[in-house]
Amino acid sequence: MPGEGSIHAEAAEMHVADSDLSELIKAATKDSHTRAENTELMRSYVRGQVSPSQYKLLLCSLYEIYSALEEQLDRNASHAAVAPIYFPQELARLETLQKDLEHFYGESWRQRIIVPAATLRYAQRLREIGEKHPEQLVAHAYTRYLGDLSGGQVLGRITQKSLGLKGGEGLSFFSFPAVSSPGLFKQLYRGRMNSIELTQEQRQGVLQEAITAFEFNIEVFDDIQEMLSITEPEPELRQRHSKHSHTRLLQDDKMAAQELQISSPWLSAIPLIRMVLGVCVALAVGMGIYAF
Ligand code: HEM
Repeated sequence: MPGEGSIHAEAAEMHVADSDLSELIKAATKDSHTRAENTELMRSYVRGQVSPSQYKLLLCSLYEIYSALEEQLDRNASHAAVAPIYFPQELARLETLQKDLEHFYGESWRQRIIVPAATLRYAQRLREIGEKHPEQLVAHAYTRYLGDLSGGQVLGRITQKSLGLKGGEGLSFFSFPAVSSPGLFKQLYRGRMNSIELTQEQRQGVLQEAITAFEFNIEVFDDIQEMLSITEPEPELRQRHSKHSHTRLLQDDKMAAQELQISSPWLSAIPLIRMVLGVCVALAVGMGIYAF
């Protein structure tokens, strides 16, 4: 119907204008969140199988990301769209990451950290946004800090268990001593996000940038996994496997097959396919001999 598209677009714009930014951003990034949760790195976490190498590489990337994010938040602290969500006392992660990196890499950690290309691209984007569109910093701050205060808290407990870290050593990143209740703080943060005055165009820009922020995180996680897959299987992983029983390994293989969506009829058909191929080869050889 003529004009129907523009009516829908107008309705969508009115919705964006009327609704709270915190609700819109959550809705806009719902699918991205699911994708981030399903990255190989996050799935290792959820299974309680995070390795020291994974965690250390993640810390290196987070250090670069928060360096750029917090540098830009500090620089734009008095900007009208940043001031309401500027909580360095409660949220700043840079020092916690420095502490954790020193724990794992020692005093010379700065020379030893490894950063994947996707992380550098993410940091570059944060600096660009801070310079050209400071009002979009809220999208990046939301993605990281509210994530750290939500699922991040669970990831902290998993890291502690998986790596057997005692007394919070190497886990400062997950700890927010100035936030007594993450739930209440998130409510306050959402309220502050909703108080930011934005034009319709700026709102759309923020929503789009939040999706981009998730995308960057997904790329970083994928890069970390790829870096680990091309290095030798680490001793911790080998040890873990050798401790596991054969049954456990088979279970793991089965799970992997399920995850790769290799359906079981195909798996069970493999011996039959082999047999048919063998008969074909024998026939071909036999016919060859007969021809001579
Ligand atoms: C295994 C990985 C993850 C798990 C299990 C997880 C889990 C959760 C949970 C349970 C919530 C609370 C939802 C609510 O209060 O309604 C949440 C919220 C959130 N997560 Fe995650 N998450 C994961 C990964 C991530 C990643 C990688 C990011 C981004 C880099 C992220 C960003 C967020 C954000 C921004 C929120 C706040 C949503 C809102 O209230 O608006 N999460 N997550």
